Amino acid sequence: MSAYRTNMSVRPEVKGFFDPQTNTISYVVKDPNSKACAVVDSVMDIDYAAGRITFEHADEIIDYVKQNDLQVEWLIETHVHADHLSAAPYIQEKLGGKIGIGDKITVVQETFGKVFNEGTEFQRDGSQFDRLFSDGDTYEIGTMSAFVIHTPGHTPACMTHVIGDAAFVGDTLFMPDGGSARADFPGGDAGTLYDSIQKILQLPDDMRLFMCHDYAPGGREIKWETTVGEEKAHNIHVGGGKTKEEFVKFRTERDAQLAMPRLIIPSLQVNMRAGEVPTDEHGDKMLKVPVNKL
Ligand SMILES: [Fe+2]
Repeated sequence: MSAYRTNMSVRPEVKGFFDPQTNTISYVVKDPNSKACAVVDSVMDIDYAAGRITFEHADEIIDYVKQNDLQVEWLIETHVHADHLSAAPYIQEKLGGKIGIGDKITVVQETFGKVFNEGTEFQRDGSQFDRLFSDGDTYEIGTMSAFVIHTPGHTPACMTHVIGDAAFVGDTLFMPDGGSARADFPGGDAGTLYDSIQKILQLPDDMRLFMCHDYAPGGREIKWETTVGEEKAHNIHVGGGKTKEEFVKFRTERDAQLAMPRLIIPSLQVNMRAGEVPTDEHGDKMLKVPVNKL
């Protein structure tokens, strides 16, 4: 039995957009009874070596929204991503909608405000976002009611968004053959991640789950949709009743082997500002590289 008040009779139309540069999946989640939609985890393109930012991926989403005459009500970030830059402000400027993230963004801003030596002009109160969600908060997308579950462990601000029979899990879970995301970023914790995953696995077995990433393990094709029942039975890190102790040991050993994500330095600076690129004292867009601090 699920402890959450889900409504499996509401079936949003979900369209995934895969970004091969960062293996991220962005979503347009549409209310079946109106033109309202939400955009989840959009991606801004960056050529980091050249310091060049472009918007091919976001434009694909914008074209889709326009072609289908949709109304964007929300731009949801499941968490502060460390591997890609959000395009939420770019899409907001073109299509409207409110940018929302988990309220523990303040913890992430505090941590990385220090790493990047941000001055007092960098607000650490989450005010760059239009809405900060707390565990259990609800919001509307057209006629659909959505709610959030705080699912920390990968990062402190991770939220799972449940919209009808669909849940957007961010980086708490990967596809069953991909397992789970790393838990070794500042503020991450493998035991906390295990507990968060258990919250997701309490949702109804036929709840659709949508991943934020897929790395095509074993060379299979890219996939991003599964169910709670599938994850419970087959997830290679947490499925089949694996214990917290087993998970924490495995996750900790695995994380110690992983390299830093290629785009972590630009991603954090931009994403902790709700997708805005920081500017220097001349008003020019500028990114920093803190040395030996990550
Ligand atoms: Fe992530």
